[in-house]
Amino acid sequence: MFKKFFCPTKIFYGEDSINEVANLLSSYDGKVLIISTTSAARISGAYSKVKEALDSCDLQYFYENSISQNPDVSSVRSISDKFKGKKISLIISIGGGSAMDAGKAISVCIGSGKSIDDLILYGVSGEVFIDHLAIPTTAGTGSELSKGSILSDKSKNWKGGLRGDELFPKFAVIDPALTYSLPKSITLLTGFDAFTHAFESYLSNSQSDITDIISLDVIKRIVPALLDIAEDINVYENKKTLAFCSMLAGINLANSSTCLPHRIQYAIGSLSDSTHSEGLVSVYPAWISSLKEAKIKRYFILTSIIDKVGGLDKDGPIEDLISRLGIARTLSDLGLNASHHDELVCLTTGNLQLDPCYNGKNTIYKILDKS
Ligand SMILES: [Fe+2]
Repeated sequence: MFKKFFCPTKIFYGEDSINEVANLLSSYDGKVLIISTTSAARISGAYSKVKEALDSCDLQYFYENSISQNPDVSSVRSISDKFKGKKISLIISIGGGSAMDAGKAISVCIGSGKSIDDLILYGVSGEVFIDHLAIPTTAGTGSELSKGSILSDKSKNWKGGLRGDELFPKFAVIDPALTYSLPKSITLLTGFDAFTHAFESYLSNSQSDITDIISLDVIKRIVPALLDIAEDINVYENKKTLAFCSMLAGINLANSSTCLPHRIQYAIGSLSDSTHSEGLVSVYPAWISSLKEAKIKRYFILTSIIDKVGGLDKDGPIEDLISRLGIARTLSDLGLNASHHDELVCLTTGNLQLDPCYNGKNTIYKILDKS
């Protein structure tokens, strides 16, 4: 069954839920720090709505929009140092996983007064944090509901995570309309990330009956929605489904875990400038073949469902899904080749035993060789 299930974030979901921000802000005084990537907050329309809400509550705010894709430890360090002692009472992150993950780390750094370097070295446990409101502008990462903050340190070729209950955002405002202006390629790639969260949290050795129910429901909804979006990007109902599925799969991230593709992607992300989804999709077909080879029963349960709801190739429904979405990538597309394999294997860390087909480093080499 299950021993623990945790979702402490207060969720506001639906078109126009962005208008809830003014109500949430009414209980705050002090100053607000907005964290974003260069343009996502403005293009999505979220920034102007948040600004309106802040002005209506007469709250002073600062706007830091320098967060990059694969957010770097140095940005978290410099923003945290700049705002420590400045009476920040709320952090608002607007964007995809990068902005929200940076927001989580900055919330703990400013709240606890500790450096990001110490938190990475010693872990997060019992630290004071600042309230964090996460506003996703993509549908896929689920970061708004998870307790992980994935960061990179380019100077050390390191990518890894901070994890802890202190990193859960206090509020998540999930307004599907903020994703409507995204181009098709980004919609499908980020949507595929949500699919992988449902898929991997079902296969992980840390699944539970509750996360299984969520995974299966997400897969039944998201596969047809992704396929429909690949045909026609303009049906908003499908984008709403993606946002809803991303949210549900995000709950699973905090209560089960992902598998090898996510662990390997952290390594890929630290050696290339690829996005999270591109890294995932580059290793997915090879990981799928390891699952088939290991005859993982749960994999066959999932593929029979995917086949039923998506009408995909019975012999390789995930490979067919990737192809129909037009998102296929290889490691060489991401600028990596066999000379990077040793380093990629070294950089693949975390609880690898949670993957159902992990059988030592050779499993990773095998996946890389085929990718
Ligand atoms: Fe992911």
